[in-house]
Amino acid sequence: MVMLLTGGAGYIGSHTALVLLEAGYDVVVYDNLSNSSPESLRRVERLSGRSLTFIEADIRDTARLEQALTEHAVDAVIHFAGLKAVGESTEKPLAYYENNVGGTLSLCQAMRAADVRTLVFSSSATVYAESDEMPLTEAAPTGRPTNPYGSSKLMIEWILQDLYAANPDWSIAILRYFNPAGAHESGEIGEDPNGIPNNLLPYVSQVAVGRLEQLSIYGNDYATPDGTGVRDYIHVMDLAEGHLKAANAIARASGLHLWNLGTGKGYSVLEAVQAFERVSQRPVPYRVVGRRPGDIAQCWADPRKAEAELDWQCSRGIDDIMADAWRWQSHNPQGYRDSER
Ligand code: NAD
Ligand code: UD1
Repeated sequence: MVMLLTGGAGYIGSHTALVLLEAGYDVVVYDNLSNSSPESLRRVERLSGRSLTFIEADIRDTARLEQALTEHAVDAVIHFAGLKAVGESTEKPLAYYENNVGGTLSLCQAMRAADVRTLVFSSSATVYAESDEMPLTEAAPTGRPTNPYGSSKLMIEWILQDLYAANPDWSIAILRYFNPAGAHESGEIGEDPNGIPNNLLPYVSQVAVGRLEQLSIYGNDYATPDGTGVRDYIHVMDLAEGHLKAANAIARASGLHLWNLGTGKGYSVLEAVQAFERVSQRPVPYRVVGRRPGDIAQCWADPRKAEAELDWQCSRGIDDIMADAWRWQSHNPQGYRDSER
């Protein structure tokens, strides 16, 4: 089976490419490298002992996409490509809608033209309405996201639902990720954000490795056990395996499915920092500052639907996430730039 991964050179895409290659799939990565390095793919090839096809191009180039789908006889698409910086999305909403929503429309049009109708989409728990009721099942109401990045994810979900309603011969999986974190256990591939990280784990590991001075904890006055925000951190390899299972499941029959990919367990910011310090044996200096606009107190998944329907389960816990994040960061203090120099 041939899988085309849009955004496959990025953080989650590169880990998924590795899992797919190891499972015997042929992989075509289609990425414009706007937020990634081709070094990730060289390392994926080295780790798997297999080669993949890389196409450096933009998903908004519908003709190029259609050509790639046809030329490589692609069976299914996993669609990771998108811009994901929440803060930047509030400053550049049009760029986010154009890239994420416009890019997905272009992809669906190219798929229709090439007669490829199997699609896995990277959505996010950010589409859920803020709630006191945890864990979140797929039936929980969606909300009005607080930023254009989140809105783009919800809009794409609607587009895919409408596409399926009109074309029930399509097979679509919408995967709502909770908080992806960690790295491949080799320490060879991992998360390599541009500039100052927005997300907790890359920030913590960059403090530990000495690239950043101190973590700012955004608020300790939430209605949570220790006052800091609670999230469901899922190991990126468990997440990658979820994509393999989802792609397999939807290849069997047409349909539109929603699946939460999370662990079902929430950890506070302080618990996450303590776990990182314990596992890495490195101090993570922090100070508590005000809340970050748009943040919610708590968010964790009910993963039982994905577990039952995909025969999938997270096998890695918070300590594995921290150990693997630290291995990646300590072996590659400047990320992929270390091997580009
Ligand atoms: P990432 O930025 O590492 O990967 C995205 C990849 O898409 C990059 O390699 C980038 O170069 C590529 N890309 C962006 N726009 C493109 C375009 N127009 N044409 C071709 N390629 C393009 O991000 P990630 O963390 O791997 O996230 C993958 C997907 O999962 C994204 O859609 C993201 O919104 C979603 N997601 C991520 C998280 C998270 O915490 N990382 C959480 C929920 C959902
Ligand atoms: C954020 C995005 C969300 C996106 C997700 C994955 C916001 C408001 N939400 O989710 O839309 O889908 O990333 O990309 O940006 N924290 C700190 N200090 C930091 C960084 C984070 O205290 O330097 C705290 C946050 O307040 C939160 C927790 O750590 O309680 C996790 O934050 P983060 O990793 O940014 O993820 P989310 O906010 O859950």
